[in-house]
Amino acid sequence: MQRRNFIQQSSLTVIGLGVFGSLLSNTKKAGATLSVNSKRIESRIFELAKFGVDEKGRGYRVAYTKGDIEGRAWFMELMKKAGLDPTIDAAGNIIGKRKGKNASLKPIAFGSHIDMVPDGGNYDGTLGSISALEVIEILNENNVVTEHPLEVIIFANEEGGTIGSMAMAGHLTPEGLKQKSQSGFAQAEGIKTLGGNPANIQSAKRNKGDIHAWLELHIEQGGILEREKIQIGVVEGIVGIVHWEVTVEGFANHAGATPMNLRQDALLAASQFIIAVNEVVNSVKGTQVGTVGKIAVQPGAYNVIPGKVVLGLEIRDLDAAKIEMLFKEMEKRAAIIATSTKTKISFERQANESKPALTDKKLQQIINISAKALGFTTKFMQSGAGHDSQEIAEIAPAAMIFIPSVGGISHSPKEFSRATDMANGANVLLQTILKIDKE
Ligand code: GLV
Ligand code: MN
Ligand code: MN
Repeated sequence: MQRRNFIQQSSLTVIGLGVFGSLLSNTKKAGATLSVNSKRIESRIFELAKFGVDEKGRGYRVAYTKGDIEGRAWFMELMKKAGLDPTIDAAGNIIGKRKGKNASLKPIAFGSHIDMVPDGGNYDGTLGSISALEVIEILNENNVVTEHPLEVIIFANEEGGTIGSMAMAGHLTPEGLKQKSQSGFAQAEGIKTLGGNPANIQSAKRNKGDIHAWLELHIEQGGILEREKIQIGVVEGIVGIVHWEVTVEGFANHAGATPMNLRQDALLAASQFIIAVNEVVNSVKGTQVGTVGKIAVQPGAYNVIPGKVVLGLEIRDLDAAKIEMLFKEMEKRAAIIATSTKTKISFERQANESKPALTDKKLQQIINISAKALGFTTKFMQSGAGHDSQEIAEIAPAAMIFIPSVGGISHSPKEFSRATDMANGANVLLQTILKIDKE
Protein backbone atom coordinates (compact mmCIF):
# COMPACT_ATOMS: atom_id res chain seq x y z
CA MET A 1 0.00 0.00 0.00
CA GLN A 2 1.30 3.47 -0.83
CA ARG A 3 2.13 5.39 2.32
CA ARG A 4 -0.34 8.21 1.53
CA ASN A 5 -3.19 5.74 1.19
CA PHE A 6 -2.03 3.97 4.30
CA ILE A 7 -2.24 7.21 6.25
CA GLN A 8 -5.60 8.21 4.78
CA GLN A 9 -7.04 4.87 5.63
CA SER A 10 -5.48 4.97 9.07
CA SER A 11 -6.97 8.40 9.88
CA LEU A 12 -10.41 6.97 9.25
CA THR A 13 -9.64 4.10 11.56
CA VAL A 14 -8.41 6.50 14.20
CA ILE A 15 -11.49 8.75 13.96
CA GLY A 16 -13.65 5.68 14.37
CA LEU A 17 -11.68 4.55 17.36
CA GLY A 18 -11.96 7.90 19.12
CA VAL A 19 -15.66 7.18 19.59
CA PHE A 20 -15.74 3.43 19.92
CA GLY A 21 -12.25 2.57 21.17
CA SER A 22 -13.30 1.77 24.69
CA LEU A 23 -16.11 -0.46 23.45
CA LEU A 24 -13.88 -2.59 21.27
CA SER A 25 -13.19 -5.88 22.88
CA ASN A 26 -9.82 -7.13 24.01
CA THR A 27 -8.40 -10.32 22.59
CA LYS A 28 -9.15 -12.41 25.69
CA LYS A 29 -7.81 -15.92 25.79
CA ALA A 30 -8.83 -18.68 28.13
CA GLY A 31 -6.49 -19.02 31.07
CA ALA A 32 -5.20 -15.47 30.98
CA THR A 33 -7.03 -12.84 32.97
CA LEU A 34 -5.49 -9.81 31.32
CA SER A 35 -5.39 -9.17 27.64
CA VAL A 36 -4.29 -6.28 25.42
CA ASN A 37 -6.55 -4.07 23.32
CA SER A 38 -5.73 -5.05 19.75
CA LYS A 39 -7.56 -2.07 18.20
CA ARG A 40 -5.73 0.41 20.39
CA ILE A 41 -2.37 -1.04 19.34
CA GLU A 42 -3.29 -0.93 15.67
CA SER A 43 -4.70 2.60 15.79
CA ARG A 44 -1.56 3.87 17.50
CA ILE A 45 0.62 2.22 14.86
CA PHE A 46 -1.38 4.20 12.30
CA GLU A 47 -1.18 7.42 14.30
CA LEU A 48 2.57 7.21 14.76
CA ALA A 49 2.94 6.61 11.01
CA LYS A 50 1.78 10.19 10.42
CA PHE A 51 4.95 11.57 12.00
CA GLY A 52 7.91 11.89 9.70
CA VAL A 53 6.32 11.71 6.27
CA ASP A 54 8.42 13.50 3.63
CA GLU A 55 7.13 15.64 0.76
CA LYS A 56 6.87 12.53 -1.46
CA GLY A 57 4.68 10.77 1.10
CA ARG A 58 7.46 8.41 2.19
CA GLY A 59 8.23 7.48 5.77
CA TYR A 60 11.18 9.50 6.99
CA ARG A 61 11.14 9.32 10.79
CA VAL A 62 14.92 9.13 10.73
CA ALA A 63 16.53 9.71 14.12
CA TYR A 64 17.09 13.38 15.04
CA THR A 65 14.87 14.70 12.23
CA LYS A 66 11.62 16.65 12.72
CA GLY A 67 9.45 13.52 12.38
CA ASP A 68 11.43 11.67 15.03
CA ILE A 69 11.27 14.62 17.42
CA GLU A 70 7.52 15.08 16.88
CA GLY A 71 6.80 11.35 17.08
CA ARG A 72 8.68 11.17 20.35
CA ALA A 73 6.72 14.13 21.75
CA TRP A 74 3.45 12.39 20.79
CA PHE A 75 4.63 9.19 22.45
CA MET A 76 5.70 11.00 25.61
CA GLU A 77 2.24 12.58 25.87
CA LEU A 78 0.71 9.10 25.85
CA MET A 79 3.22 7.97 28.44
CA LYS A 80 2.26 10.92 30.65
CA LYS A 81 -1.43 10.05 30.32
CA ALA A 82 -0.56 6.50 31.38
CA GLY A 83 1.15 7.89 34.49
CA LEU A 84 4.66 6.98 33.38
CA ASP A 85 6.15 10.43 33.99
CA PRO A 86 8.69 10.12 31.14
CA THR A 87 12.16 11.60 31.29
CA ILE A 88 14.98 11.76 28.72
CA ASP A 89 18.40 10.46 29.69
CA ALA A 90 21.74 11.86 28.48
CA ALA A 91 21.64 9.64 25.36
CA GLY A 92 18.17 10.83 24.35
CA ASN A 93 16.43 7.63 25.48
CA ILE A 94 12.87 8.14 26.73
CA ILE A 95 12.30 6.40 30.05
CA GLY A 96 8.93 6.02 31.76
CA LYS A 97 8.62 4.46 35.20
CA ARG A 98 5.79 2.73 37.04
CA LYS A 99 6.25 1.97 40.70
CA GLY A 100 6.07 -1.60 41.97
CA LYS A 101 5.00 -2.84 45.41
CA ASN A 102 8.60 -3.51 46.36
CA ALA A 103 10.86 -0.51 45.74
CA SER A 104 13.96 -2.52 46.64
CA LEU A 105 13.52 -4.72 43.55
CA LYS A 106 15.20 -3.81 40.25
CA PRO A 107 12.88 -2.88 37.39
CA ILE A 108 11.57 -5.11 34.65
CA ALA A 109 12.19 -2.99 31.54
CA PHE A 110 10.67 -3.28 28.07
CA GLY A 111 10.20 -1.19 24.95
CA SER A 112 11.92 -0.63 21.61
CA HIS A 113 12.50 2.37 19.28
CA ILE A 114 10.36 4.65 17.11
CA ASP A 115 12.96 6.02 14.67
CA MET A 116 13.01 4.46 11.19
CA VAL A 117 15.28 3.98 8.19
CA PRO A 118 14.70 6.32 5.21
CA ASP A 119 11.55 5.21 3.36
CA GLY A 120 11.02 2.69 6.13
CA GLY A 121 7.97 0.84 7.38
CA ASN A 122 5.48 1.44 10.15
CA TYR A 123 6.03 -1.60 12.37
CA ASP A 124 9.78 -1.90 12.98
CA GLY A 125 10.38 -0.68 16.53
CA THR A 126 6.97 0.93 16.81
CA LEU A 127 5.25 -2.37 17.63
CA GLY A 128 7.49 -2.97 20.66
CA SER A 129 7.16 0.65 21.78
CA ILE A 130 3.39 0.86 21.47
CA SER A 131 2.92 -2.60 23.00
CA ALA A 132 5.07 -1.62 25.97
CA LEU A 133 2.73 1.30 26.60
CA GLU A 134 -0.25 -1.01 26.05
CA VAL A 135 1.01 -3.33 28.80
CA ILE A 136 1.13 -0.37 31.20
CA GLU A 137 -2.37 0.76 30.24
CA ILE A 138 -3.82 -2.72 30.71
CA LEU A 139 -2.22 -2.92 34.15
CA ASN A 140 -3.60 0.56 34.96
CA GLU A 141 -7.09 -0.30 33.75
CA ASN A 142 -7.11 -3.48 35.81
CA ASN A 143 -5.53 -1.92 38.91
CA VAL A 144 -2.66 -4.38 38.81
CA VAL A 145 0.47 -3.36 40.66
CA THR A 146 3.47 -5.57 40.06
CA GLU A 147 6.07 -6.43 42.70
CA HIS A 148 8.88 -5.03 40.55
CA PRO A 149 8.98 -1.48 39.30
CA LEU A 150 8.38 -1.36 35.54
CA GLU A 151 10.21 0.76 32.98
CA VAL A 152 9.22 1.54 29.43
CA ILE A 153 12.30 2.51 27.42
CA ILE A 154 12.18 4.04 23.92
CA PHE A 155 15.75 4.01 22.67
CA ALA A 156 17.26 6.85 20.67
CA ASN A 157 18.53 6.26 17.13
CA GLU A 158 18.28 2.47 16.93
CA GLU A 159 18.50 2.48 13.16
CA GLY A 160 21.70 4.50 13.16
CA GLY A 161 23.60 1.88 15.15
CA THR A 162 21.66 1.25 18.40
CA ILE A 163 23.05 4.53 19.74
CA GLY A 164 20.81 4.99 22.78
CA SER A 165 21.11 1.42 24.01
CA MET A 166 24.86 1.49 23.33
CA ALA A 167 25.10 4.46 25.69
CA MET A 168 23.00 2.60 28.28
CA ALA A 169 25.34 -0.38 28.04
CA GLY A 170 28.27 2.01 28.48
CA HIS A 171 30.02 1.68 25.13
CA LEU A 172 29.14 4.78 23.22
CA THR A 173 32.66 6.20 22.84
CA PRO A 174 33.74 9.81 22.18
CA GLU A 175 34.61 8.58 18.68
CA GLY A 176 31.15 7.07 18.31
CA LEU A 177 29.59 10.38 19.32
CA LYS A 178 31.44 12.07 16.46
CA GLN A 179 30.09 9.64 13.85
CA LYS A 180 27.85 11.27 11.28
CA SER A 181 24.27 9.99 11.40
CA GLN A 182 21.79 9.55 8.55
CA SER A 183 20.21 12.89 9.53
CA GLY A 184 23.47 14.69 8.73
CA PHE A 185 24.08 15.47 12.40
CA ALA A 186 26.99 13.97 14.28
CA GLN A 187 25.54 11.59 16.91
CA ALA A 188 26.36 14.09 19.68
CA GLU A 189 24.52 16.91 17.92
CA GLY A 190 21.60 14.63 17.12
CA ILE A 191 21.30 13.50 20.72
CA LYS A 192 21.00 17.17 21.71
CA THR A 193 18.03 17.60 19.34
CA LEU A 194 16.26 14.88 21.36
CA GLY A 195 16.89 16.63 24.66
CA GLY A 196 19.87 14.47 25.62
CA ASN A 197 23.20 15.67 26.95
CA PRO A 198 26.14 14.05 25.13
CA ALA A 199 28.64 15.89 27.35
CA ASN A 200 27.37 13.76 30.21
CA ILE A 201 26.81 10.55 28.23
CA GLN A 202 28.16 8.32 31.03
CA SER A 203 25.13 9.22 33.14
CA ALA A 204 22.97 7.17 30.73
CA LYS A 205 24.98 4.05 31.59
CA ARG A 206 23.35 1.32 33.64
CA ASN A 207 25.43 -1.22 35.46
CA LYS A 208 25.00 -4.98 35.52
CA GLY A 209 22.26 -5.75 38.01
CA ASP A 210 20.46 -2.40 37.54
CA ILE A 211 17.78 -4.00 35.37
CA HIS A 212 16.07 -7.21 36.51
CA ALA A 213 15.08 -8.23 32.96
CA TRP A 214 14.75 -6.58 29.56
CA LEU A 215 12.14 -7.60 26.97
CA GLU A 216 11.57 -6.37 23.42
CA LEU A 217 8.65 -7.33 21.21
CA HIS A 218 9.48 -6.85 17.51
CA ILE A 219 8.37 -7.84 14.06
CA GLU A 220 10.50 -10.66 12.67
CA GLN A 221 11.54 -8.69 9.57
CA GLY A 222 12.14 -11.95 7.72
CA GLY A 223 9.73 -14.54 6.37
CA ILE A 224 10.37 -17.62 8.52
CA LEU A 225 7.40 -17.37 10.90
CA GLU A 226 4.96 -16.64 8.10
CA ARG A 227 6.30 -19.42 5.88
CA GLU A 228 6.14 -21.97 8.70
CA LYS A 229 2.79 -20.61 9.98
CA ILE A 230 4.23 -19.98 13.46
CA GLN A 231 2.69 -17.28 15.63
CA ILE A 232 5.52 -16.40 18.02
CA GLY A 233 9.30 -16.41 17.59
CA VAL A 234 11.48 -16.78 20.67
CA VAL A 235 14.79 -15.13 19.84
CA GLU A 236 17.89 -17.08 20.84
CA GLY A 237 20.52 -14.71 19.49
CA ILE A 238 20.99 -11.45 17.62
CA VAL A 239 23.63 -11.05 14.94
CA GLY A 240 26.66 -8.81 15.24
CA ILE A 241 26.92 -5.99 12.67
CA VAL A 242 30.11 -4.35 11.40
CA HIS A 243 30.32 -1.53 8.86
CA TRP A 244 33.26 -0.34 6.75
CA GLU A 245 33.55 2.68 4.53
CA VAL A 246 35.36 1.45 1.43
CA THR A 247 37.14 4.08 -0.66
CA VAL A 248 38.20 3.25 -4.20
CA GLU A 249 40.56 5.79 -5.74
CA GLY A 250 41.18 5.84 -9.47
CA PHE A 251 41.79 8.76 -11.77
CA ALA A 252 39.06 11.03 -13.13
CA ASN A 253 39.74 11.66 -16.80
CA HIS A 254 38.00 12.44 -20.08
CA ALA A 255 35.55 9.64 -20.94
CA GLY A 256 35.93 10.21 -24.66
CA ALA A 257 39.63 10.88 -25.05
CA THR A 258 41.00 8.21 -22.69
CA PRO A 259 41.39 4.77 -24.35
CA MET A 260 39.98 1.79 -22.45
CA ASN A 261 43.40 0.35 -21.63
CA LEU A 262 44.63 3.59 -20.04
CA ARG A 263 41.84 4.08 -17.52
CA GLN A 264 41.87 3.94 -13.75
CA ASP A 265 38.13 3.64 -13.38
CA ALA A 266 37.17 3.65 -9.70
CA LEU A 267 33.60 2.57 -10.39
CA LEU A 268 34.72 -0.41 -12.44
CA ALA A 269 36.91 -1.50 -9.51
CA ALA A 270 34.07 -0.85 -7.06
CA SER A 271 31.71 -2.98 -9.16
CA GLN A 272 34.16 -5.87 -9.13
CA PHE A 273 34.51 -5.48 -5.38
CA ILE A 274 30.72 -5.55 -4.86
CA ILE A 275 30.59 -8.88 -6.73
CA ALA A 276 33.56 -10.15 -4.69
CA VAL A 277 31.70 -9.34 -1.45
CA ASN A 278 28.80 -11.45 -2.60
CA GLU A 279 31.08 -14.32 -3.64
CA VAL A 280 33.03 -14.30 -0.37
CA VAL A 281 29.86 -14.36 1.73
CA ASN A 282 28.46 -17.23 -0.35
CA SER A 283 31.72 -19.19 -0.27
CA VAL A 284 31.17 -20.58 3.23
CA LYS A 285 28.28 -22.44 4.86
CA GLY A 286 26.10 -20.60 7.36
CA THR A 287 23.62 -17.78 7.76
CA GLN A 288 26.11 -14.90 7.45
CA VAL A 289 25.15 -11.98 5.22
CA GLY A 290 27.16 -9.24 3.53
CA THR A 291 25.85 -6.18 1.73
CA VAL A 292 27.11 -3.14 -0.11
CA GLY A 293 24.16 -0.84 0.46
CA LYS A 294 25.65 2.57 -0.24
CA ILE A 295 27.56 4.02 -3.15
CA ALA A 296 28.75 7.52 -4.03
CA VAL A 297 30.55 8.18 -7.28
CA GLN A 298 32.76 11.19 -7.96
CA PRO A 299 32.64 13.35 -9.90
CA GLY A 300 29.46 11.70 -11.28
CA ALA A 301 29.08 12.79 -14.90
CA TYR A 302 28.35 10.99 -18.18
CA ASN A 303 31.58 12.16 -19.70
CA VAL A 304 34.05 11.70 -16.86
CA ILE A 305 35.68 8.41 -15.87
CA PRO A 306 34.86 7.96 -12.16
CA GLY A 307 37.85 9.04 -10.09
CA LYS A 308 36.60 8.06 -6.68
CA VAL A 309 33.91 5.78 -5.26
CA VAL A 310 32.89 5.43 -1.63
CA LEU A 311 30.97 2.27 -0.67
CA GLY A 312 29.20 1.22 2.51
CA LEU A 313 29.99 -2.41 3.37
CA GLU A 314 28.17 -4.34 6.07
CA ILE A 315 28.76 -7.89 7.37
CA ARG A 316 26.49 -9.68 9.88
CA ASP A 317 26.71 -12.98 11.72
CA LEU A 318 26.11 -14.52 15.14
CA ASP A 319 29.82 -15.39 15.29
CA ALA A 320 32.12 -12.36 15.62
CA ALA A 321 35.14 -14.41 14.45
CA LYS A 322 33.34 -15.31 11.25
CA ILE A 323 32.71 -11.63 10.49
CA GLU A 324 36.46 -10.97 10.84
CA MET A 325 37.33 -13.99 8.68
CA LEU A 326 34.96 -12.88 5.90
CA PHE A 327 36.32 -9.33 6.01
CA LYS A 328 39.92 -10.58 5.68
CA GLU A 329 38.90 -12.51 2.56
CA MET A 330 37.25 -9.39 1.16
CA GLU A 331 40.43 -7.38 1.80
CA LYS A 332 42.43 -9.98 -0.13
CA ARG A 333 40.03 -9.80 -3.06
CA ALA A 334 40.17 -5.98 -2.94
CA ALA A 335 43.98 -6.06 -3.22
CA ILE A 336 43.75 -8.21 -6.37
CA ILE A 337 41.08 -5.93 -7.87
CA ALA A 338 43.10 -2.80 -7.05
CA THR A 339 46.16 -4.19 -8.86
CA SER A 340 44.27 -5.24 -11.96
CA THR A 341 42.34 -1.94 -12.22
CA LYS A 342 45.26 0.32 -11.22
CA THR A 343 43.24 1.74 -8.36
CA LYS A 344 43.67 1.99 -4.60
CA ILE A 345 41.10 0.41 -2.27
CA SER A 346 41.11 1.29 1.42
CA PHE A 347 38.83 0.40 4.33
CA GLU A 348 37.78 2.42 7.32
CA ARG A 349 36.03 0.43 10.02
CA GLN A 350 33.13 2.45 11.42
CA ALA A 351 32.54 3.23 15.08
CA ASN A 352 29.39 1.95 16.83
CA GLU A 353 29.50 -1.68 15.71
CA SER A 354 27.08 -4.15 17.30
CA LYS A 355 28.42 -7.29 18.88
CA PRO A 356 26.56 -10.58 18.43
CA ALA A 357 24.45 -11.33 21.50
CA LEU A 358 22.73 -14.34 22.97
CA THR A 359 19.48 -13.81 24.81
CA ASP A 360 18.86 -15.11 28.32
CA LYS A 361 17.89 -18.82 28.38
CA LYS A 362 15.55 -18.51 31.35
CA LEU A 363 13.70 -15.58 29.78
CA GLN A 364 13.45 -17.54 26.52
CA GLN A 365 11.71 -20.30 28.44
CA ILE A 366 9.32 -17.91 30.17
CA ILE A 367 8.38 -16.38 26.81
CA ASN A 368 7.85 -19.83 25.33
CA ILE A 369 5.71 -21.00 28.27
CA SER A 370 3.66 -17.77 28.19
CA ALA A 371 3.06 -18.10 24.46
CA LYS A 372 2.09 -21.77 24.72
CA ALA A 373 -0.27 -21.00 27.60
CA LEU A 374 -2.03 -18.54 25.30
CA GLY A 375 -2.35 -21.30 22.70
CA PHE A 376 0.25 -19.98 20.27
CA THR A 377 2.72 -21.95 18.20
CA THR A 378 6.35 -20.98 18.83
CA LYS A 379 9.77 -21.33 17.28
CA PHE A 380 13.23 -20.65 18.69
CA MET A 381 15.15 -18.61 16.13
CA GLN A 382 17.93 -16.11 15.56
CA SER A 383 17.51 -12.48 14.59
CA GLY A 384 19.21 -11.36 11.41
CA ALA A 385 18.31 -7.78 12.21
CA GLY A 386 20.12 -5.75 14.83
CA HIS A 387 18.27 -4.61 17.94
CA ASP A 388 18.75 -2.54 21.07
CA SER A 389 18.31 -5.82 22.96
CA GLN A 390 21.80 -6.92 21.92
CA GLU A 391 23.32 -3.96 23.74
CA ILE A 392 21.14 -4.42 26.79
CA ALA A 393 22.04 -8.15 26.84
CA GLU A 394 25.47 -7.03 28.06
CA ILE A 395 24.10 -5.46 31.23
CA ALA A 396 20.90 -7.42 31.94
CA PRO A 397 19.15 -10.69 31.14
CA ALA A 398 17.51 -9.80 27.82
CA ALA A 399 15.07 -11.52 25.49
CA MET A 400 12.99 -10.83 22.40
CA ILE A 401 9.58 -11.88 21.13
CA PHE A 402 9.01 -11.96 17.36
CA ILE A 403 5.76 -11.93 15.41
CA PRO A 404 5.36 -12.62 11.67
CA SER A 405 6.16 -10.01 9.04
CA VAL A 406 3.90 -10.45 6.01
CA GLY A 407 6.02 -11.44 3.01
CA GLY A 408 9.15 -11.21 5.17
CA ILE A 409 9.44 -7.54 4.15
CA SER A 410 10.99 -4.89 6.37
CA HIS A 411 12.92 -1.62 6.11
CA SER A 412 10.44 -0.88 3.34
CA PRO A 413 7.11 0.95 3.12
CA LYS A 414 5.62 -2.47 2.30
CA GLU A 415 6.44 -3.70 5.80
CA PHE A 416 3.24 -5.07 7.37
CA SER A 417 2.13 -7.17 10.33
CA ARG A 418 -1.44 -8.21 11.02
CA ALA A 419 -3.34 -6.72 13.97
CA THR A 420 -3.98 -10.21 15.35
CA ASP A 421 -0.28 -11.05 15.28
CA MET A 422 0.58 -7.74 16.93
CA ALA A 423 -1.95 -8.41 19.70
CA ASN A 424 -0.62 -11.98 20.09
CA GLY A 425 2.89 -10.63 20.58
CA ALA A 426 1.73 -7.94 23.00
CA ASN A 427 -0.19 -10.54 25.01
CA VAL A 428 2.91 -12.71 25.21
CA LEU A 429 4.86 -9.64 26.36
CA LEU A 430 2.24 -8.90 29.02
CA GLN A 431 2.10 -12.47 30.33
CA THR A 432 5.90 -12.79 30.27
CA ILE A 433 6.27 -9.64 32.37
CA LEU A 434 3.70 -10.91 34.88
CA LYS A 435 5.47 -14.29 35.09
CA ILE A 436 8.90 -12.72 35.58
CA ASP A 437 7.40 -10.50 38.26
CA LYS A 438 6.07 -13.50 40.20
CA GLU A 439 9.28 -15.56 40.07
C1 GLV B 1 18.26 -2.53 12.31
O1 GLV B 1 17.06 -2.61 12.08
C2 GLV B 1 19.17 -3.29 11.52
O2 GLV B 1 19.11 -4.52 11.60
O3 GLV B 1 19.91 -2.69 10.74
MN1 MN C 1 13.83 -2.36 14.95
MN1 MN D 1 15.13 -1.58 11.66
